[in-house]
Amino acid sequence: MMNAPSDRQELLSLVRSLKERVLLDRELGRPLNYLTARKAGITGDLSFPEARPPSALMRDDELFPITEMTLEEIRTELGDCRRCPLSRTRRHIVFGEGDAHAKLVFVGEAPGADEDIQGRPFVGRAGQLLTRIVAAMGLTREEVYICNILKCRPPGNRNPLPEEIAACEPFLLMQIKAIKPKVICALGSFAAHALLKTDAPITVLRGVFHDYRGIPLMPTYHPAYLLRNPGAKKQVWGDVQKIMEILGRKGRMT
Ligand code: URA
Repeated sequence: MMNAPSDRQELLSLVRSLKERVLLDRELGRPLNYLTARKAGITGDLSFPEARPPSALMRDDELFPITEMTLEEIRTELGDCRRCPLSRTRRHIVFGEGDAHAKLVFVGEAPGADEDIQGRPFVGRAGQLLTRIVAAMGLTREEVYICNILKCRPPGNRNPLPEEIAACEPFLLMQIKAIKPKVICALGSFAAHALLKTDAPITVLRGVFHDYRGIPLMPTYHPAYLLRNPGAKKQVWGDVQKIMEILGRKGRMT
C-alpha cells in the first residue's frame, strides 16, 4: 500500500507547481501580480511605524495616498532629514536627479560611498554602467530620473533596515507622484522587494512588468550585479527593450 505523501513531499510538489506556473506566465508575458503582497489600487495604507511622517496631509487617494507636491517642495520637506539613524553617519542626502517630468524613473537601493560624497545617485562604478545602459536606450541621464529606496548611505553599504525604509519610502512615493512616469525600472532585488512588497527572487520578478500603483514596473538586475556577472547583461538588455517598447523608443547595444 502506498504511504500518504509526507508534508515535505506535499510542500515540494506545491513549490514545483508554483514554479511551473511562474515560468509559464513569464513565457506568455502574463502579469505576475500574485507574487506581490499588495496590488496597485488597493494600497491605501501607508503606515509609519517608527518614523515621523512628512507633514503633507494624507488624502483619500487610492493609488498615491499622499498630497501632491513638486520635487522642490518635497526636497524642502525632507530638509536636513533626521527621521532615521542613517542621518548620523551620512555625508550627504542623495535625493535623486534628472527630469522632473521623466517618462522613466530608475529606482536603486541606496547611495554607496561615491554617492554619499557627491550627493548624487549612481555616480560610482555601478552608476557608470547605469549611464551606459541609459545611453543604450537612446536616452541621457538628464532625460530620465534616477533615485533610490533610501536617500542616505547605510554604513559599510549594509542592507537597509525596515525602519529606514519606512522613514524614507513616503518621500520616494511623493517623488513618483510628482514625476508621473510612464514606467519605473527597479534596479536589483532590494528595490524590487521594497516597491512591490514581495520576497520573490529577482530571477523570477525580472523580465515582466508588475503593477506599482497603476504604473508598469520592470524589475531587472542591479548594475553592481552586472559588474560581477557580465553574462547577465543580455537579460538586462531584454528587460530594457521592453521598457523602450512602452516608451516607443528604439535603442542600440553599446
Ligand atoms: N547603488 C545604488 O543602489 N544606488 C546608488 O545610487 C549607487 C549604487
